[in-house]
Amino acid sequence: MILPIVAYGDPVLKKVATNIDADYPKLDELIENMFETMYNAYGVGLAAPQIGLPIRLFLVDTTPFSEDEDLSEEDQKALDGFKRVFINAEIVEEEGEEWAFNEGCLSIPDVREDVFRKPKITIEYLDENFEPQKETFDGLIARVIQHEYDHIEGVLFTDKLSTLKKRLIKGRLSNISKGKIKVDYRMRFPAMKKKR
Ligand code: NI
Repeated sequence: MILPIVAYGDPVLKKVATNIDADYPKLDELIENMFETMYNAYGVGLAAPQIGLPIRLFLVDTTPFSEDEDLSEEDQKALDGFKRVFINAEIVEEEGEEWAFNEGCLSIPDVREDVFRKPKITIEYLDENFEPQKETFDGLIARVIQHEYDHIEGVLFTDKLSTLKKRLIKGRLSNISKGKIKVDYRMRFPAMKKKR
């Protein structure tokens, strides 16, 4: 089932998400629905807060990036079929010199900006079978994980921009939160706030 993706401005996107345990209701179904929702919107990652749930769950499939012809064959191979579910994740280490990559977000349609992040991460998490994992990633895989991880920390890529950039996109962000945007996947827009 395709779920509506929560748009910029919804308070759920600003919450620090909480851990879940193995008896979380209908988790398999939720994960399946989240993958379907992500693929439907041509995303490479989706975090639970983006479908309105403030829990530490996100998923990633970097396959669409593997078609980028500017990448080396080795990088393309690594990205092709890289599909993971991250539960209760904690990034335990981030290393290296920050690099810029043009990021977007399914909750913030049509806004893309360069974001600086470190290239290499080590992350501890539970997989979809609640088996503990500890892995190190770099390049675009690390990038996608960092972006999704930020979502479960209540952080959006737009929070990481310079004051000037933030000012330049303010109007567009405001329009998104009001639903004044054309988007070809299902979205849920926050209710417009009443003036006091
Ligand atoms: Ni996002």
